[in-house]
Amino acid sequence: MKSFFKRYTPLQIAIHIYGWSALVRLIIDLINHNLTANPIQALEQRTGRHAITLLVLALACTPLNNLFGWRELLKRRRALGLYAFLYATIHVIVFVDLDYGLAWSLILQTIIQKPYIVVGVLSFLMLIPIAFTSFDIWKKRLGKNWKRLHQLVYLIAPLVALHYAWGKKGDFFRLQGEIIRPLIYSVIIIIFLIMRLPQVRKALASVRDRILVPFRRREPQSKPNTP
Ligand code: HEM
Repeated sequence: MKSFFKRYTPLQIAIHIYGWSALVRLIIDLINHNLTANPIQALEQRTGRHAITLLVLALACTPLNNLFGWRELLKRRRALGLYAFLYATIHVIVFVDLDYGLAWSLILQTIIQKPYIVVGVLSFLMLIPIAFTSFDIWKKRLGKNWKRLHQLVYLIAPLVALHYAWGKKGDFFRLQGEIIRPLIYSVIIIIFLIMRLPQVRKALASVRDRILVPFRRREPQSKPNTP
């Protein structure tokens, strides 16, 4: 047990517990017929929400490291991103298989008719290369292009928030309909994107340095020369 905790950090353990427990809960609810009167829609919605939550958590790692200097967060982006991709994939499988029974012409027709689904499809298509190249071997192979490719996540996150908000058919301006949750996700994503701007990063770094000053160990002062 001791070596387990030496090998994995609490944050790592928390991420894997969230990643798998959400799936286990979904499966248990499915087996127990505990997924509302419309189980397929419930599955679609729950997997979609887990996907966006994990994506936002992955997006949070860099700005939170800039703010608090918690470098471990940078190492956890990959796991969070891959879990987001896992839930997004299940979400898409539920849509094409359980919801539309793989009737491709009907699926295509629905996609064309509902712009929020087009946005979902675009986000998913962009997530695929990011997920597959998230491993170190691809980082080495792609060199500078790896970073460029992975910066797509800053486009994907707002698109997914749009997919969420648009699908809810609420009115953002009149604050009507089921818009609170998509609104919260959108605001969080906007804040994290703003925190990445170079000027904001600089300002945050200086705030961090000021906050951390009292916690930094003072350099031991050299003893005064005794005569
Ligand atoms: C091929 C791509 C996609 C398709 C076809 C698709 C389809 C759908 C559909 C049909 C719904 C509405 C479910 C309902 O309320 O009846 C939905 C909602 C949602 N989707 Fe997607 N989606 C796609 C990609 C994604 C991706 C990549 C994400 C996140 C990373 C995502 C996150 C969500 C969220 C958060 C919701 C709202 C859940 C809720 O109502 O609580 N979707 N999607």
